[in-house]
Amino acid sequence: MINNLNIVILAAGKGTRMYSTKPKVLHELAGKPLLQHVIDCAKQLNPVKIIVVYGYGGDAVKSSFTHESVVWVEQKEQLGTGHAVAQAIPELTVGGTTLILLGDVPLVSAQACKTLALADMELALLSVVKQDPTGYGRIARDLSNNVQSIIEHKDASDAQRAIQEVNTGIIKADNAKLINWLSRLTDHNAQKEYYLTDIVAMAVADGVSVGATIVKDEASVEGVNSKSDLAKLERVYQSRYANQLLNQGVTLADPLRIDVRGELLVGKDVNIDVGCIFEGKVVVEDGVSIGAYCVIKNARIGAGAYIAPFTHIDDAEIGKDNRIGPYARLRPGTKLASDAHIGNFVELKNTQVAQGSKINHLSYVGDTTVGKNVNIGAGTITCNYDGVNKFRTTIEDNVFIGSDTKLVAPVTVGEGATIGAGSVITKNAPAGELTIARIKQITLVGWKRPVKLKS
Ligand code: UD1
Ligand code: CA
Repeated sequence: MINNLNIVILAAGKGTRMYSTKPKVLHELAGKPLLQHVIDCAKQLNPVKIIVVYGYGGDAVKSSFTHESVVWVEQKEQLGTGHAVAQAIPELTVGGTTLILLGDVPLVSAQACKTLALADMELALLSVVKQDPTGYGRIARDLSNNVQSIIEHKDASDAQRAIQEVNTGIIKADNAKLINWLSRLTDHNAQKEYYLTDIVAMAVADGVSVGATIVKDEASVEGVNSKSDLAKLERVYQSRYANQLLNQGVTLADPLRIDVRGELLVGKDVNIDVGCIFEGKVVVEDGVSIGAYCVIKNARIGAGAYIAPFTHIDDAEIGKDNRIGPYARLRPGTKLASDAHIGNFVELKNTQVAQGSKINHLSYVGDTTVGKNVNIGAGTITCNYDGVNKFRTTIEDNVFIGSDTKLVAPVTVGEGATIGAGSVITKNAPAGELTIARIKQITLVGWKRPVKLKS
């Protein structure tokens, strides 16, 4: 815990090079807006306040974060990073320290931020050594290696441009000093902007302790300026996540071909084939095997289950030792007990299935309670919707539903009942009996097929 820590996140820029109407910080990395990544990092430091400086697309940005208790400060015109931080001055805690983060640097590390915030210096920043430092602010050091100033690329001489150590933009400063430096900034530079980076030379002139720590992990301080930057950081994020899963003992057919857009919690001996996408919070218990190209969102998959390829699961609970798919679609509210089998082209919605039941082929079962050891034949449809209202279907234990049956809800099929194939069941079917609701088979002896009329 760092005393009286304020975190200011700069997020007012338009992001011209994204070529999008959406503000840059709302573009998503691993399914989450860039700014959300930065806020999540900030929260790990337990600051007294997180202040977000917004500008371009202001309302869109703010309304995407109503779930966060951050302070919003508007920068009406984007006159530079120094001007942006100055907008937050009225919100800064007296006697506190401010850490400045950038809303478009999503992989920022909480650990590195903590170390920076705790640094025993009144002004400290993170720098990085770049193979190609073009465009960045260069860190000028004296012969004793002490930081002297930051020179923005456009203001730098050729000699200064040769410096490869650059400013990441992540800076911490003592609040009282910061406020004083900000009040002295001018826009007398190549870009006619109020550069936050000018505070470094001011601090040196004031005889204040200044330091820059070189970050080794370049991706963690990389900003997103274009879709290509975004795609690159997405891959970094995903390959780090995949490695984390491998380190936990998960078998990944190819660590380059898995995408986790949220949180994937895994048990032991989990196998995941290529091309799977996990969204939201997904819990995968021991011994689960997931086939290729499954999309699984907000779900729990019980121990020993096998999810065959091309299965979609959204907001559902899969039971122990289930066999699901291929090509199954389990929609919100689906809850399967152990040993259920859900086969190809079966769609389930808001349906609870008890132990040992099977729906193996080509069916739609919605708003339904299915008992134990039920077999639902191919092509069964629960007609749960009359165009206005939804109704439930109840299928009790040990029922056998013949293929191509329509169950017109609300309707109950009693325990142990059998429904003849091709039935349209509109009334409750009694327990233990065979119910058939279809035209009786007849033969029209001598019937002839129509012939083409002569014109
Ligand atoms: C800035 C730094 C540079 C550093 C680089 C790292 C300055 C003057 N320069 O340069 O030393 O190497 O970041 O990426 O600080 N922003 C606002 N309001 C503004 C201007 C910017 O909120 O008026 C925000 C942007 O949305 C962005 C961040 O500040 O998140 C950095 O702005 P950007 O324009 O990318 O700064 P650079 O010129 O790249
Ligand atoms: Ca930038």
